[in-house]
Amino acid sequence: MAFDFDRILIEKHIIEKRVSELGKMISSDYADEELLAICILKGSILFFADLIRYLSIPVKIDFIKASSYGKRTSTSGKVKIDDLLSNEIKGRNVLLVEDIVDSGFTIKRILDFFTEQGAFDVRVCTLLDKPDRRVADVEPDYSGFVIPDEFVVGYGMDFDQKYRNLPYIAVLKEAEK
Ligand code: PRP
Ligand code: MN
Ligand code: MG
Repeated sequence: MAFDFDRILIEKHIIEKRVSELGKMISSDYADEELLAICILKGSILFFADLIRYLSIPVKIDFIKASSYGKRTSTSGKVKIDDLLSNEIKGRNVLLVEDIVDSGFTIKRILDFFTEQGAFDVRVCTLLDKPDRRVADVEPDYSGFVIPDEFVVGYGMDFDQKYRNLPYIAVLKEAEK
């Protein structure tokens, strides 16, 4: 069965170039800090794995799982969080790595979680930012691309758990929703 999407929104080589730029920016901003980077599963798995390769500073990594979409193309508003952390959070410089900030509910929930755990500083790096749909009061500190209000899949992002393995970012077909 072939993948069935409307069109490619961001090609593989464009993603690679931007991820390397983000890596350089983050490496320079955290040059004198100890960084703990958090992969927000499942969506950010590919972005995270690529981004940390472009960091030229020592970095510790950890994982948290958050989901609210399920089979929908808009958020349920209920963000389910599974804490898979193994590093101490208190006093740390934390960088949350997300694939996309849409309504902002997910990243806001996780930001608050790390602040409550006593992190010294918490910043957000997202590959995609969809500001037209923002509900929660949150602004990413690092953003790869600002995208229009379309449902995107690929490069970690899913619809009903499919499409995550595409090496590019595509727009889902209307009929699929
Ligand atoms: C998606 C995406 C972000 C979040 C963004 O995760 O990966 O984490 O939604 O949407 P929001 O800004 O409206 O909260 P999803 O809930 O689909 O879980 P997944 O990462 O396991 O696919
Ligand atoms: Mn996610
Ligand atoms: Mg999802």
